[in-house]
Amino acid sequence: MEFERTIIITGGAGFIGSHVVRLFVNKYPEYKIINLDKLTYAGNLANLKDVEDKPNYQFVKADICDYESIKEIISTNNVTGIIHLAAESHVDRSIVDPFTFARTNVMGTLSLLQAAREFWEPKGWAGCRFYHISTDEVYGALELTKPEGDPDAKECGGGPFGDDFFTESTKYQPHSPYSAAKASSDHFVRAYHDTYGMPTLVTNCSNNYGPFQFPEKLIPLFINNIRHRRPLPVYGKGENVRDWLYVVDHARAIDLIFHEGKIGETYNIGGFNEWKNIDLIKVLIKTTDRLLGRPEGSDDDLITFVTDRKGHDMRYAIDSTKLKEELGWEPSLQFEEGIEKTVKWYLENQDWLDNVTSGDYMKYYEQMYK
Ligand code: NAD
Ligand code: DAU
Repeated sequence: MEFERTIIITGGAGFIGSHVVRLFVNKYPEYKIINLDKLTYAGNLANLKDVEDKPNYQFVKADICDYESIKEIISTNNVTGIIHLAAESHVDRSIVDPFTFARTNVMGTLSLLQAAREFWEPKGWAGCRFYHISTDEVYGALELTKPEGDPDAKECGGGPFGDDFFTESTKYQPHSPYSAAKASSDHFVRAYHDTYGMPTLVTNCSNNYGPFQFPEKLIPLFINNIRHRRPLPVYGKGENVRDWLYVVDHARAIDLIFHEGKIGETYNIGGFNEWKNIDLIKVLIKTTDRLLGRPEGSDDDLITFVTDRKGHDMRYAIDSTKLKEELGWEPSLQFEEGIEKTVKWYLENQDWLDNVTSGDYMKYYEQMYK
């Protein structure tokens, strides 16, 4: 079958990557979509069951750090677009094991950039795009200058919790090994644009939530714990603020920016939806209990304050005005609707949660692709 173009999506078996793969495979039957993923603990092909038989989808098991293999995959498939999501993504793990984060997030990104350059530069970069998916954490942390939030704010959660936001020109000031590694990869992507003229795009997004997120991250971990009446480990006093975006809205933004974003530019992606952790956790308990038919308040005592995360960033808040004004993107889903859908999905997909936490799926796929 002839395709108009071939695109690699790295990290397509992970949380956000699987939503991006699904969107591209369904929306662009004229593109061949290669999901390139190493299948670490966070990668799970079960996330893509609904598209795995589509003629324009292909899975390739590979490590982005394996420069020779990546070069081969790019050239044999005549790849003209790369949407790069593969990364080690969990801050707590990065505090325990920073080397793995430097290897994958920095060296892996560099290896991908160089492999693409080898193939694209001799063709004058014609029709090529390297789109790097990054995070708001590279900007560091904002203060809580309005600890009670803005009483006039229409947004849920009581936010915004300050007058300042991360913009595309905010200075990079990463604090965790995870965000330091992501910041470094962003710099390499810009360096390839500025030095070699590679057509690049970078986006920095706020916290995502939704189906298929590995249950080490706050929202899926806590929904699963509430269901099983396990303690909910709240770091510090639960006062830290995160800015939450439904994952499908992030995937929609990626699609728009990949096709219409201005080469060499950075765009921030976020929903102006700030929540203090403790308020969000109360919503999770209330929603989960209601959907399970438990009386309101019956699981409030699961909240357990524990030792704070080392170097815990206080507040993230993204200003995505540029993306709205230049490309017309806005989140499509209100937070109440998004969180309802998300809690429902985890409650209805206990098997998925059990599989990813037991490690069974890893054994299965390791055998299949060894
Ligand atoms: P995830 O941990 O769920 O998935 C990461 C995927 O990358 C997995 O499928 C894993 O197998 C794959 N991978 C890891 N190392 C690899 C390697 N060496 N080679 C090939 N594949 C490898 O991550 P996520 O939460 O979906 O995040 C995806 C991207 O988006 C990351 O780059 C992350 O920094 C960024 N991001 C995430 C969020 C968020 O809230 N989750 C917000 C902003 C940006
Ligand atoms: O901002 C974007 C980033 O969001 C992404 O780049 C990261 O890949 C993603 O993991 C996420 O990072 P956070 O550290 O903000 O997400 P996490 O779900 O780990 O934690 C959210 C907040 O909840 C944070 O303030 C820490 C707190 N927390 C988390 C866990 C797992 C707890 O209080 N208890 C917990 O058990």
